[in-house]
Amino acid sequence: MMRLALRRFSALPLRRLGDKRWYSSADDGFDATSSSSKAQPEIIISEAIDGFSVFPQELPSNARDPSKDDFINDATSPPRTREQQMEYNKHESLRDWLGRQSRKRSVDEIVVLTGNIHRGSEILHNAVYNKGTGFNHSERERLGVRGLVPPRFFSIEQQAEKIWQQQVVMRESNAPKIARWRHLQALKDRNETLFYRLLQEHVEELAPVIYTPTVGEACLNYSRFFRRARGMFFTKDDVGHMHSMTYNWRGDVKIVVVTDGSRVLGLGDLGAHGMGISIGKLDLYVAGGGFDPQEVLPVCLDVGTNNKSLLNDKWYFGLNSQRLEGGDYYRVIDEFMRAIRHRWPNALIQFEDFQTKHALEILTNYRNDYLCFNDDIQGTAAVVLAGVYGALKVLGGKDRSEIRKQKFVMCGAGSAGMGIVAMLHKAVVKSGGLSEEEAYDNFYIMDNNGLITNERKLEFPREAAVEPFAKARKATKELPDGASLLDVVTKSKCTALLGASTVNGLFTEDVLRQMGEQNERPIIFPLSNPTSNAECTSEEAAKATDGRAVFSSGSPFEDAKGAVSGRLMRANQGNNLYIFPGLGLGALLSGAKTISEEMLVSSAKAISDMLTEDQIRRGCIFPLIKEIRNISARVAVRVIKQAAEEGQAKRSVVAIIESDDEHDTKLYKYVKRAQYVPEYRPTVFPVEEIRRTVDDY
Ligand code: NAI
Repeated sequence: MMRLALRRFSALPLRRLGDKRWYSSADDGFDATSSSSKAQPEIIISEAIDGFSVFPQELPSNARDPSKDDFINDATSPPRTREQQMEYNKHESLRDWLGRQSRKRSVDEIVVLTGNIHRGSEILHNAVYNKGTGFNHSERERLGVRGLVPPRFFSIEQQAEKIWQQQVVMRESNAPKIARWRHLQALKDRNETLFYRLLQEHVEELAPVIYTPTVGEACLNYSRFFRRARGMFFTKDDVGHMHSMTYNWRGDVKIVVVTDGSRVLGLGDLGAHGMGISIGKLDLYVAGGGFDPQEVLPVCLDVGTNNKSLLNDKWYFGLNSQRLEGGDYYRVIDEFMRAIRHRWPNALIQFEDFQTKHALEILTNYRNDYLCFNDDIQGTAAVVLAGVYGALKVLGGKDRSEIRKQKFVMCGAGSAGMGIVAMLHKAVVKSGGLSEEEAYDNFYIMDNNGLITNERKLEFPREAAVEPFAKARKATKELPDGASLLDVVTKSKCTALLGASTVNGLFTEDVLRQMGEQNERPIIFPLSNPTSNAECTSEEAAKATDGRAVFSSGSPFEDAKGAVSGRLMRANQGNNLYIFPGLGLGALLSGAKTISEEMLVSSAKAISDMLTEDQIRRGCIFPLIKEIRNISARVAVRVIKQAAEEGQAKRSVVAIIESDDEHDTKLYKYVKRAQYVPEYRPTVFPVEEIRRTVDDY
């Protein structure tokens, strides 16, 4: 039917279609800035109907060419043989798939409105389709918005420049970051394409506005800031209904970020306000990774909150009850996971800001059966590993294997801290020369009670991840259980001091000075978020080490100078943004069913490999965040290759890898083509509408 409709449609004189107001005339064209401006409308419409593949390598070369289609389901066709029928079925499902892809905005030449959108102001009030003054003349006619927007046309570049100037004025007048956050949210509510365009163009400056640290403040007051529903809430009262609820969400979903709001950015239990963190994170997936914003789903699991001030707040929009615990809690998680998998079997699920006591268990329960990962545990670990590899380069190390010479002190035995040391430990073992047991000796783990040794009574299962490190660290007279940080730093002669403790000022001047005395270039990573929780500032580290520290923090800091020599210390930010978008993209494009540890390690290697000589000389241990799209693509390439090595990649991807050169040129192009680009594309009504018009005709 679709094929017939297409053929009839293509044969129609365009001027008659113009009479129907789909196109005012054959030459009214599309946006002059669009690559498709010279294309004939009939070709563009057939693209809309046939779809446009994001994965062109997977398709037979004739798949999108109607002239080569031998399988028109036409009453006049002769009866088919069994083989022909099978081939026909194959093509039909391919056509279905292509049809679905036609809604994708990443590489489409056009945007097809969803079926229930009506001409006119409805389009202007839909943030997905709205272009404001960016509708050109023919679109204003076609979509019925002529006269509903100001007369003059402004391109997306001009619009982005205007909004950016507003952001600059806010920055220069020292407006609170939260005001900038609200300004951007309002833009997102009006015009998503422009929002993502702005975010992509100014990701370095805007990432801290839409995500940590500003999003923390937004989450604290989320009920008050709430204007427009986004994402999905699942509560303990929804048990038994979650599966059917997923159908309330229209469209395909490629990635879900889910939190239970129990430990938002080190700000503690924020209950249903955690939704802000899922939304902010997915904005970064879109801007940094090139995910289509129509295919991301932010989720907050509202299982209650133990935050008294929220429970007493009459405007709090979450459930007014204490957090679920034990079996009841895990039943909610399990039903949610099953519901998502049933509705979107290939979607990636990213766990975000779950408190430590549940985070590890949830990850352990699902990591082998679902495509999922926990960014606080695994993403943080991978970015810290990338930072350590980068630091080795700054230290003049010959290669990554020199990681085995490092002695690490980790302050913080929570999910972030233990995730980091587990990955570093693996990297030390993999670097060769040390057994698993020997490698434990490179690590000193501290918590709020000081150094953790074999004498520590650990709580299970909460502290299971600490156990092997504790067992291997024999308590001595010099360093007994509970030893202080200064003692541990001094007596261990550690080379790297890492903090995931949430304790501001934990790296005191004495401790930092000691690091500077025992190391030419001490590695100092205060990773706790937000800024107010950081173990030290860049200024404190630079002052105490006279600018020699190789510094990286969780929240952003300014470069700082040493007190004596004035040497400039680079304040790197170990931002998980380096890892998660590329990891997610690679996992999805490869078709992997699970995220392996090796994929995370590969991501870390990809990042440090991107450092230039000049950056290394200046003390940079990460590439520039403004390059995040390319960084994510490079990370995705490594993840795909790792998936292929593990036998997890689909055949079409393996074929690309096998025919590729040493620089992964083809694979890189494949990834780049899949990335969503926030641009205005000509907008048309959906196929069904066109078909109805044709049938009427
Ligand atoms: P958590 O609350 O589960 O763990 C904190 C740990 O710090 C506990 O083991 C606690 O005993 C320990 N601690 C408390 N006081 C201490 C002290 N005086 N000395 C040494 N240890 C002490 O928190 P979680 O989830 O592990 O996160 C920790 C921090 O890491 C948070 O601030 C979070 O924002 C940050 N983080 C940073 C990321 C990044 O930089 N990319 C990503 C994820 C988390």
